[in-house]
Amino acid sequence: MSKVTMDKIVNLCKNRGIIFQGSEIYGGMGNTWDYGPVGVEIKNNIKRAWWKRFVQEDPSTYGVDAAILMNPRVWDASGHTQNFADPKMDCKSCKQRFRADNLIEDHSKGTVSAEAMTNEEMESYINEHQVKCPHCGNFSWTPIRQFKLMFETSRGTLDGEKDVVYLRPETCQGEYVNFLNIQRSMRAKVPFAIAQIGKSFRNEITPGNFIFRTIEFEQMELQKFCRDTESMNIYEDYKEKAKQFLLDLGFSADNLKFHDHDKLAFYAKAACDIFYNFPMGWSELNGIHHRSTHDLSRHQEFSGKSMQYLDPITNEKYIPTVIEYSIGADRLMLAVLSEAYNEEELEGGDSRVVLKLHPAIAPYKVAILPLQKNINEKAIELYNQLSKKFMCMYDEAGSIGKRYRRQDEIGVPFSVTIDFDTLEDNTVTIRDRDTMEQIRIPLTDVEKYIEERIQF
Ligand code: GAP
Repeated sequence: MSKVTMDKIVNLCKNRGIIFQGSEIYGGMGNTWDYGPVGVEIKNNIKRAWWKRFVQEDPSTYGVDAAILMNPRVWDASGHTQNFADPKMDCKSCKQRFRADNLIEDHSKGTVSAEAMTNEEMESYINEHQVKCPHCGNFSWTPIRQFKLMFETSRGTLDGEKDVVYLRPETCQGEYVNFLNIQRSMRAKVPFAIAQIGKSFRNEITPGNFIFRTIEFEQMELQKFCRDTESMNIYEDYKEKAKQFLLDLGFSADNLKFHDHDKLAFYAKAACDIFYNFPMGWSELNGIHHRSTHDLSRHQEFSGKSMQYLDPITNEKYIPTVIEYSIGADRLMLAVLSEAYNEEELEGGDSRVVLKLHPAIAPYKVAILPLQKNINEKAIELYNQLSKKFMCMYDEAGSIGKRYRRQDEIGVPFSVTIDFDTLEDNTVTIRDRDTMEQIRIPLTDVEKYIEERIQF
């Protein structure tokens, strides 16, 4: 099967209620996207699967839902107010703005990493290789300038006076600032983790390859607080856990690879990404970072509050080391859609598009299809019963073949057909999305049959 193109994914998403351009009737707004009825189900299921794996199934991980707007000092401590900027170049011909590192990586089709390059090195590469503007094709660049990535807003306090506040560019700071609250209130013992799923905002101006890079996105982040002596083992462990999560969601190992960072922050002991073979090439899907004691030490310094942990057995006091695992829900959604998309030639010259999603993240678990409208009573009964347990689709319009194709395109794993025999013997046909095999089972077994097959 040929690799899916981004255009095919974008078209499917638009036409089948998965993802629409943000503010579309006003001509859109760059790098914003709205999830439709089908897309919101898939994305919620992705987030649920992640939470189940990393929070629900791990007694040493605690969830949090921290405020998006934080005390601005948080961003001084994290270094974002000083350093969170991208190297940008403007095309003098068409006035479009690009990230210099992306220009290099796209031009080299991912074979050259600009991560460790200085601005001078990036400019030399772009000049030497005559990297042209991806928008207009001309070669006419301004020098590189640093472009701030945090969105600012203001909070009125007294009349006329306003304080700058920032839309958080990452969720993990909400985990660091709650380290003491959670450790004390939950009587947590190191090593333990704090996890959160929430929106982050970055003023990304580069065209984002659909939902790969957007200005508003959701992150699923986890910080594991540990002793420095055990930190490298925990780092390796999260690399494996992060990969296993993807494999269990149905990713092929051939489309995943670890990528160690070329350049480490001065405090970091190790950092690596998992790259996925996206339609536009290999790119970062998630990150696993060994952050040493940097984050808690900075918050201690800036807040004046001790971030030390008192070991109840040894009575030793220390600032824990942090291992971070971070993945974007929207970026994972794009990877999931790319991995699941299949075009298949069928017998008799027919063809179909099918999203082979893991049933746990499929938008609807079952489609209920009465063969004819005049026998829909039992179908409606079944819908009312099953929709109390999971998302169901009900469709009585068009030929049964067309209805199956519509379900295949949005990844519904099972379709149940109610036909004339159902009226006689209370059995139904249940069709498997991937194999297209059909079996006959008692109506009373449908719920159990599906529930057994949608677990993650
Ligand atoms: N707290 C660490 C952190 O935020 P990051 O590498 O900047 O690290 C982590 O982001 C993950 O968040 C990325 O691997 C990616 O999945 C996602 N992400 C980052 N920026 C994004 C954007 N502009 N749009 C969509 N997802 C993004």
